[in-house]
Amino acid sequence: MRPLIFGAMGAALAATAAFSQIQNTGTLNPKDLRPVSSFGSIPDQAERSRALFNEIAKVVTHPRCMNCHPAGEHPLQGADHHEHAPPAYRGEGGVGIAGLTCNACHTEKNFTLVGTNATYKSIPGHPRWGLAPVEMAWQGKSLGQICQQMKDPARNGGRTLALLQEHLAHDDLVAWGWAPGEGREPAPGTQAQLGELTQAWINSGAECP
Ligand code: HEC
Ligand code: HEC
Repeated sequence: MRPLIFGAMGAALAATAAFSQIQNTGTLNPKDLRPVSSFGSIPDQAERSRALFNEIAKVVTHPRCMNCHPAGEHPLQGADHHEHAPPAYRGEGGVGIAGLTCNACHTEKNFTLVGTNATYKSIPGHPRWGLAPVEMAWQGKSLGQICQQMKDPARNGGRTLALLQEHLAHDDLVAWGWAPGEGREPAPGTQAQLGELTQAWINSGAECP
């Protein structure tokens, strides 16, 4: 048993170890998001806010999100964001072109393939499957640019910060990112955690990196 006198010191050392582990994001699994509480150690509010956005950006720049927020005329696919195959076009309202609408292939729910030789295991599905408007494109932009754009009602669908938080925390198309169907890696963390990080980012001034 540890002598009592070392108890407090041991606790202090353990706390230091936990702290340095939190500081070193390299020890975290990339599939995880840091909890909001771990940002409390950053005393400067603006710096903390930027760090929170960088954590949010792990989701936003993940292929499950970025592939539907492309800068060009085509959706993207896969972990490497390659151009959508078979060919698909943005079209009016992001839902494809006449004769080749998104919902011709993307149904209301993810569709798991059985017994085919396809390189993919499922076809994504959702009742509102379509590309984000080009003013909401994230592809090829820096985190600072993405952040400014997400805050700008002229480019984020007319949302206040509260509505932006609501969208990230609860929208059912955003939710698809964590239930993307067989053969696809889900976005990091959980949608609830993304909601908490976004709220903490707003509370700390919604600063951009
Ligand atoms: C199937 C395509 C699709 C996927 C997948 C998708 N989005 Fe979107 N996203 C859209 C569309 C369409 C809109 C515009 C609709 C709207 O504004 O309500 C949009 C709008 C948004 C907006 C609001 C506008 C803005 O850019 O600030 C945010 C935030 C957002 N998406 C976040 C995400 C996140 C985070 C993910 C991944 C977890 C994701 N989206 C995955 C299609 C998609
Ligand atoms: C001709 C059929 C077809 C059409 C039309 C089509 N898709 Fe797809 N799409 C697929 C198939 C099949 C996959 C699965 C391939 C894969 O994951 O490698 C896919 C995958 C995707 C993915 C990849 C998801 C991810 O995270 O990797 C996105 C995004 C996507 N489609 C968006 C769209 C949008 C938006 C439209 C309309 C503008 C559209 N697709 C039209 C067949 C189609």
